[in-house]
Amino acid sequence: KVTMTDVEGETRTFEDVEDGISLMELAKQRGVAGIMGDCGGGCACATCHVYVEDAWWDKVGGPDDIEFAMLDMVADVMKDNSRLGCQIRMTPELDGLEVTVAPASS
Ligand code: FES
Repeated sequence: KVTMTDVEGETRTFEDVEDGISLMELAKQRGVAGIMGDCGGGCACATCHVYVEDAWWDKVGGPDDIEFAMLDMVADVMKDNSRLGCQIRMTPELDGLEVTVAPASS
């Protein structure tokens, strides 16, 4: 399962999450506000920006160089626990993951 808090502050928990699905795809599928996924998961738009809850950070891991460069485009809302949702794929190890959707960059 995955718990997501959207940009409006609504928190929902999704059970029966497909293995291998990205957080961006999951958010789109379930209509989570604030996740656009404009580039379709190509690590090229940063409209799938999420903050990973601290307790999960070590398991999820940090962004690679390409993702970090993309996050830098939204530096005004970037935090230490920022990741792009399209670059996080669900595995059994991530069952229970909690993230918050980041606000849009201005
Ligand atoms: Fe574009 Fe994630 S969907 S960077």
